[in-house]
Amino acid sequence: MSVKPVTITITGAGGQIGYALLFRIAAGEMLGSDTRVRLHLLEIPQGVRAAEGAALELHDSAFPLLAHVDVFDDARAAFSGSNVALLVGARPRTAGMERGDLLAANGGIFGPQGAAINAHAADDVRVVVVGNPANTNALIAAAHAPDVPADRFTALTRLDHNRALAQLSAAVGTPVGEIRDVTIWGNHSATQFPDVEHATAAGQSVPALLAARLGGTEATRAWLVDHFIPRVAKRGAEIIEVRGSSSVASAASATIDHVRDWVRGTSSGWTSAAVVSDGSYGVPEGLVSSFPVESVDGQWRVVQGLSLDAFARHRIDASVAELVDEREAVRALGLL
Ligand code: NAD
Ligand code: LMR
Repeated sequence: MSVKPVTITITGAGGQIGYALLFRIAAGEMLGSDTRVRLHLLEIPQGVRAAEGAALELHDSAFPLLAHVDVFDDARAAFSGSNVALLVGARPRTAGMERGDLLAANGGIFGPQGAAINAHAADDVRVVVVGNPANTNALIAAAHAPDVPADRFTALTRLDHNRALAQLSAAVGTPVGEIRDVTIWGNHSATQFPDVEHATAAGQSVPALLAARLGGTEATRAWLVDHFIPRVAKRGAEIIEVRGSSSVASAASATIDHVRDWVRGTSSGWTSAAVVSDGSYGVPEGLVSSFPVESVDGQWRVVQGLSLDAFARHRIDASVAELVDEREAVRALGLL
């Protein structure tokens, strides 16, 4: 059991995803059953009562790993000593919107929070941005935290990754836990590229399994283009249409997966996370883009040396172009 609790700041803790996150974190599902946690819940004043209510329920759950819960409406206090920061607090989109439409509404949240992290978080802080548009919000936060190494700022594409695993599992008839090495490239948006070229299912090549099931490589490409890629990339909109509001429990679950693997390491192949680009795979340095990543010694490392055919290159370039446009848009808004 850890002696000193790990401080975890959750923004938007009074909201939907916050509520789905808090109890799993306190139960040890994110950092493990040997790690005590201290939760800092950050809300805007209108959300404080909901966060306080969640704090009461956390107490009532008597989690052995829960050392303390505090509710704040001041970012400086909420990020004080923070080891892990989950930046969830932001407006969700509604039907008919793209995630990028939220830039003007949400972008302004992330500069001040980045600055507060810079000034008050622990030296080892790790940040994951969930609030949309997540990649560019992470870019804004990182830009306001010049003293925090850029590799500590990430955005969530694990939900897209998990969605891709689930779709492939159904398509090839292999349990989801045996699908490996799928990649989400680019933006957490409809332009993302869910890439199965290197994926395996129970050790067998996924493209080969798909070709055997669908009747060849051309039919496989058609299925990927017409069904798999749009289904994964637009799953958020599908959830909004069916549920009436955006994904919650699956988003919280993916956030937990992201942080758990970052802190404790990836063990079975790679996963996907949006990290600050070091120029790998031709993605301009500094953009927060999704890559195939492994976590080694507590740090995300982009998996290097994967072959990309013309189709993959085109798809990645299109999503990266959207990230460049979003960066221009937030510059024009004075947020960068
Ligand atoms: P929600 O409206 O239920 O909760 C958001 C909460 O954030 C509210 O309680 C609100 O008061 C709070 N908030 C707003 N501004 C804040 C600020 N400056 N500081 C602290 N808290 C603040 O929304 P939700 O369903 O929990 O979704 C939150 C965000 O996550 C949305 O932007 C949504 O689009 C996004 N999301 C991302 C992914 C992903 O995969 N990256 C998946 C699902 C949802
Ligand atoms: C998702 O992917 O479910 C979230 O980003 C919510 C949304 O707006 O799609």
